[in-house]
Amino acid sequence: MAQDIFERIKENRGPIGQHAKASHGYFTFPKLEGDIGPHMIFRGKKRLNWSLNNYLGLANHPEVRKADTEAAAEFGFAAPMGARMMSGNSNYHEQLEAELSAFVEKEDTILCNFGYQATLSAIDCLVDRRDVIVYDAESHACILDGVRLHMGKRYVFKHNDIEDCEKQLERATKLVAETGGGILVITEGVFGMRGDQGKLKEIVDLKKKFDFRLFVDDAHGIGTLGATGGGTGQEQGCQDGIDIYFGTFAKSFALIGGFISSDEQVVEYLRYNMRSQIFAKALPLPLVVGALKRLELMRTQPELKENLWKITNALQKGLIENGFEIGETNTCVTPVYMNGSIPESTNLIYDLRENYNIFCSMVVYPVVPKGMIILRLIPTAVHTIEDVNYTIECFSKIVGKLKAGEYMSDKIASV
Ligand SMILES: Cc1ncc(COP(=O)(O)O)c(C=O)c1O
Repeated sequence: MAQDIFERIKENRGPIGQHAKASHGYFTFPKLEGDIGPHMIFRGKKRLNWSLNNYLGLANHPEVRKADTEAAAEFGFAAPMGARMMSGNSNYHEQLEAELSAFVEKEDTILCNFGYQATLSAIDCLVDRRDVIVYDAESHACILDGVRLHMGKRYVFKHNDIEDCEKQLERATKLVAETGGGILVITEGVFGMRGDQGKLKEIVDLKKKFDFRLFVDDAHGIGTLGATGGGTGQEQGCQDGIDIYFGTFAKSFALIGGFISSDEQVVEYLRYNMRSQIFAKALPLPLVVGALKRLELMRTQPELKENLWKITNALQKGLIENGFEIGETNTCVTPVYMNGSIPESTNLIYDLRENYNIFCSMVVYPVVPKGMIILRLIPTAVHTIEDVNYTIECFSKIVGKLKAGEYMSDKIASV
């Protein structure tokens, strides 16, 4: 007899879903209200917010708000209708693609409706069953899901381990000699949990020994790294060696959508073959016009990135000086590592939110090993040094309570 899918779902709610009853609306699906920025309303009270990837503070920038409002009034959200290939192309889409190409130093660009879908679909489009994918073990879900669609072999290398990457490239090289396929290496510019940069320069150097193409997901790098905000490759001086560059609008741009940049012929191939774009409606015009405005501000207001780094450096230096462990971050992503159980971590977060009015994200098992708690802070250009100092002061208090065992009680965090 066949299993009833609904019955199975009722019994097994999934790794995070199993906690839904206890956490929905508070630890999961919280509602942050008010203008997007460092101070937002959570459950009716203003909280200092470190959980949004609004790196450059563009979400509530007056020029951005004005451009978004005017574009929505002028075009509405219906336009353009249809997929780009059929009826949904516009001069604005093409202008944005040209400007993005210049920004990330590539020949051409294709816009995509979501970052997640862009990466997944581009991987699916670029490889065939004879090819081998070699990818970092801690890759984002959109890479993993793209790899899952791949019909050929895939070899994973240990996170940021160049020796292992080389080993996997050796295996891949042997295999493609038989299949007649090619090799696609996939990694990230910035790993969003630990905040460490992908070792792009070292991977690019491996091209001297192996034949492969390099795909980089630079969701957190675009706008935050590189002399002109062109991303992690620009930061490491190896942008040229990145063959396929992915950026999202969901972080520094404070918008929605994403893009893939590469050689002209590769982008043309993606334009005519990438299933998520040829079979889906184009990005609405207000989003495209809004992205153009944001890109203009990134180019003309370098002080946004400077301020982001001023806050990032103050936060990371202050945390280290006060004895906190922030691991190997060399980007704006600031993880604060602590030791404790899952009940302790929920009590700690509850205390932090309710008694210190600080809102940040928490990462626990199974995302990180059992017994580890990560409080993940995302600085932005619109935080202040006072925000930084207050946070470090409060963190010192809560870590003292954690070490004293005060969060062991399971009474505090009933939400
Ligand atoms: C590394 C990475 N890649 C891709 C994405 C997906 O981008 P989007 O939110 O635009 O779908 C994210 C998160 O949003 C990310 O952190």
